[in-house]
Amino acid sequence: MKIRKAIITAAGWGTRFLPLTKTQPKEMLPLVNKPLIQYSVEEAVKSGIEQIILITAMGKRAIEDYFDRSFELEHILEKKGETQLAKEMRDLSSLVNIFYIRQKEQLGLGHAILVAKEIIGQEPFAVILPDDIIDSEVPALKQMIAVYEQYQTNIIAVERIHREDSVKYGIIEPKPVSNNVYQVLSIVEKPEPDQALSNLGVVGRYILMPEIFDALKVTPPDKKQEIQLTDALQILLKQQAIYGYQFDGVRYDTGTPAVWLKANITFALKHPVFGPELREYLGQILHQF
Ligand code: G1P
Repeated sequence: MKIRKAIITAAGWGTRFLPLTKTQPKEMLPLVNKPLIQYSVEEAVKSGIEQIILITAMGKRAIEDYFDRSFELEHILEKKGETQLAKEMRDLSSLVNIFYIRQKEQLGLGHAILVAKEIIGQEPFAVILPDDIIDSEVPALKQMIAVYEQYQTNIIAVERIHREDSVKYGIIEPKPVSNNVYQVLSIVEKPEPDQALSNLGVVGRYILMPEIFDALKVTPPDKKQEIQLTDALQILLKQQAIYGYQFDGVRYDTGTPAVWLKANITFALKHPVFGPELREYLGQILHQF
């Protein structure tokens, strides 16, 4: 069955970015000249997704306004002769069909996905965690959909991590199947390094079968009273196969302020307009620090 729908979760508080995120959602922070969330939406569209279900929460209205049409702005731009910019604004609002659901309580990633159950229905779907920006030639989700088409079951993105960082990731117990593909034998959320069964950490891209919702419904909350997707995947393993796919691309955890800054520098250096000037500027100032 074709992957038509993607859930993008954007309900977190973004406390690591305070005071920046006091009055704006962390998903609206810039990565060079676009807000972070736009990268996820564009990745989904380029991967053939037709419907996006954006899970939001209180204080996230700026995201809805951003993808909405602004006739007033377009009119002002047209009047000023800025027709190209007016077109860009129009294109942004017609990128894709987006449904918004509010997660009323912050009960974890698993719970955020569960609230989209009715809209997803009985079909496999994608999940994108917008903190994880993946810079790649072929969009990461598109790579995963190709793997899904081969295996027709749950696929999760993985990458090699430093073992001491296992406390930040879902960690899989892998059985190599082919180049870059592993069968998941078990999966544990954020284990201590000495408990981690590999150094393959889960990255925020998933293709999930609809049976995940049944697993999520019976997943007990963790110590923080949150329902973890990882725990539901471990339950689902009793019934369905899960494969880990090591994608091609560089991933930035932009939910970490220092990595967000690094991603901004890297993306700006690669940008056709800003890149050359920034390269020259960095060359000039670096020796001062
Ligand atoms: C979530 C998942 C974790 C995964 C990570 C990838 O954790 O729970 O399994 O490895 O995303 O970014 P979070 O980063 O939301 O704490």
